[in-house]
Amino acid sequence: MGPRDELARPLRDLRLSVTDRCNFRCPHCMPRERFGADHAFLEREELLSFEELTRLTRVLVGLGVRKVRLTGGEPLLRRDLHRLVEGLAGLEGVADLALTTNASLLASQAERLAAAGLGRVTVSLDALDDPTFAMMADTRVPVATVLEGIEAAEAAGLGPVKVNAVVRRGRNEHAIEDLADWGRRTGRTVRFIEYMDVGATNGWRMDEVVPAEEILARLRRRFALEPVAAEAASEVAERWRHADGAAELGVIASVTRPFCRDCTRARVSAIGELYTCLFAAAGTDLRGPMRDGADDDQLAARVAAIWSGRRDRYSEQRAEGTPTHQKVEMSYIGG
Ligand code: GTP
Ligand code: 5AD
Ligand code: SF4
Ligand code: SF4
Repeated sequence: MGPRDELARPLRDLRLSVTDRCNFRCPHCMPRERFGADHAFLEREELLSFEELTRLTRVLVGLGVRKVRLTGGEPLLRRDLHRLVEGLAGLEGVADLALTTNASLLASQAERLAAAGLGRVTVSLDALDDPTFAMMADTRVPVATVLEGIEAAEAAGLGPVKVNAVVRRGRNEHAIEDLADWGRRTGRTVRFIEYMDVGATNGWRMDEVVPAEEILARLRRRFALEPVAAEAASEVAERWRHADGAAELGVIASVTRPFCRDCTRARVSAIGELYTCLFAAAGTDLRGPMRDGADDDQLAARVAAIWSGRRDRYSEQRAEGTPTHQKVEMSYIGG
C-alpha cells in the first residue's frame, strides 16, 4: 500500500527535476539578475545518471507512486532525455509519464520522446503575443517556436497538450482571454496558475497575484463555462469546460485556495534530494546512499521514513498567515 504521511496522505506523484538549467529567464522563476553568468548551476557529474533516476523511480513506484513527471529547469536541455524516458516507460506501475517544458526545443525532440514511451506533455506559455511573452519569459524565442513545439508534440501522439500559464498582475492579465480563446479554438486545455512565492529570488508580492476568483470572473464574462468534476482529489486544478464542449480550462489557485490537504507529490532534485513540498527549505540526500551501495530495500526504507514523518502544508500555512522560512528555488526541485 505504501506509506501515509502524518496527515494520512499517500505518496502517488513523483516529479523528477533532471536539470536546474533553463534557456528562459522567467522573472517569476529564474530572474536574470539572480541567475546570471555567475550563478553556480549544478555540475554534470553531480546529476543523477539516467540509471540512478530510473532505479530511484522504481523504488518509489514500490512505495505507491503512479504518476511521474519530468521537470527542470528545462528538461529538454538534458542531453538524450529520451533515453531516460525509455527507462521510465519500461517500469511496471507507472500509469502516467509526463513532461513539463517551455517547448522551445520540443519540435526537434517530440518524435523521439514519443517513440521512447513518453505519455504526454505540458507546456508553459504565459502569453500569445510576442511582446508580453518576451517579458514573461525573458527570452528572444518567439511564441511561434513554442506553438511549433506544441504542434510537433501533438503530431507525434503526445497530445492533446495542456498549457500552463502563470498570471501576474500588471503584466499578462490580457493573456487570460487570449489563451482561453486560443484553447477553445484549438481544443487544448489551458490552466491559469496564481503567481506563487516559490523560492527566494522572484520578489513575490501578494498584490501581483491575480486570484483565481478574479481570473474566473474575467473568463465567465467572456465565455459560457460549466464546472467539471475532479477525477482525483489530488488534482491541483479546478476544472471548467466551455459550454459548447470545445475545450476545458482550469485555474490553479495555490495561493488563494490551497490544496495541501490532498497533496500526494514528492519531488527529487537533479542531484537526488527528496523534497516533500514545493516550498521546503531542504531535501534529503538519496544520491549518497545510492552511490554508497544501499540496496533497494534500504533506499525504500529511507524514503518511507521521510514520507511517514511528512507534515508539509506550506500553502495552507501561508493562507493562515503562519511565518515562513527560506525556500529552495523551483527551478532546482521542479515545478
Ligand atoms: P496533470 O496531471 O496534467 O493535471 O498535471 P498536474 O496536475 O501535475 O499539473 P502540473 O504538473 O502541470 O502543475 C501545474 C502547476 O501547478 C505547477 O506548475 C505548479 O505551478 C502548480 N503545482 C503543482 N504541484 C503543486 C504543489 O504540490 N504545490 C503547489 N503549491 N503548486 C503546485
Ligand atoms: N508561480 C507559479 N507558477 C510558477 N511556475 C514557475 N514559477 C512560478 C511561480 N512563481 C510555473 C511555470 C511552469 C511550471 C513548471 O511552474 O510557469 O508552468
Ligand atoms: Fe524556465 Fe520554466 Fe522557470 Fe520559465 S518557468 S525560467 S521556462 S523553468
Ligand atoms: Fe503540497 Fe507543499 Fe504544495 Fe501544499 S504547498 S500542495 S504540501 S507541495
